Amino acid sequence: MNKISIVGGAGRVGETTAQILAEQELCREVALLDVNEGMSEGVALDIVQTSPFFKFDSRVVGSDDPSILAGSDLVVITAGQARKPGMSRSDVLEANVRVIDAVTDEIMTHAPDAMVLVVSNPVDTLTYRVAQRTGWDRRRIFGQAGVLDASRMAGFIAQETGFSVRDITTMVLGGHGDTMVPVSRFCTINGIPLSHFLPEERIAAIMERTRKGGAEILALRKNSSAYDAPGAAVATMIDAIVRNRRRLLPCVAILDGEYGEREIAMGVPCVLGWQGVEQVVELDLEPIERADFDRSAASVRADIERLREIS
Ligand code: LAC
Repeated sequence: MNKISIVGGAGRVGETTAQILAEQELCREVALLDVNEGMSEGVALDIVQTSPFFKFDSRVVGSDDPSILAGSDLVVITAGQARKPGMSRSDVLEANVRVIDAVTDEIMTHAPDAMVLVVSNPVDTLTYRVAQRTGWDRRRIFGQAGVLDASRMAGFIAQETGFSVRDITTMVLGGHGDTMVPVSRFCTINGIPLSHFLPEERIAAIMERTRKGGAEILALRKNSSAYDAPGAAVATMIDAIVRNRRRLLPCVAILDGEYGEREIAMGVPCVLGWQGVEQVVELDLEPIERADFDRSAASVRADIERLREIS
């Protein structure tokens, strides 16, 4: 890719993502847009000064002027309020929908051909909002959540079993909230079902810890949500697109009949390639998984209903 922009580029998730994109040379130029004057230039300079260590030639620039988005192939949105300890992701909906609307308008003006990767929370609802406001092809609009949640689950499984994370496969579907759906049936260690290694109650505990994974970090850090793993998760999705890997990853996608859902965005397995979300993969869920998925869809839908009241 030639250019990837990050809106909210001076925030922690934005900065971490930018560092990884530059280090991995996933594009020629990383542009950081942030409303706070000077901050994204400062972040950009700091990252550029790591280039001799990591030996990358990607350019990194920052500005508070939205015209910096011009020519972007992909725009990542990390802007908005982060939740405070004790808050749910939905508690920042009102504040963040205004931010997202303004950012969407800037993207439509300056980068009308870009793909949009939404990270700001509540991510499912805000991804849907961007899709509605732009009216763009749904392959171009998607959000990050499941890659992070699945990586958290893989980390917990590695800690619990002592196996290498390289061999651990996990899948987390649904909305990125307390109702997210870690699907243990699809979790394996080098293809061997997790249930071969762990008793049911340990697996259930890992699933529950995964659901609360973001809140656990927020409660411990107090002044910040997670950003290292979120940045790595965003970069993983971008790597799949830039290198046209056609990876099967859980992404927040706009559903159009898949899983019996429409007019909603939520986490489902997707094929990610150079066109963005090239395919939504429908799985046959077992009744209990299906019930969890439906409950999660209902909670995302409740936020989408709140959106209608806001606008
Ligand atoms: C988390 C935030 C990024 O899960 O939603 O840590």
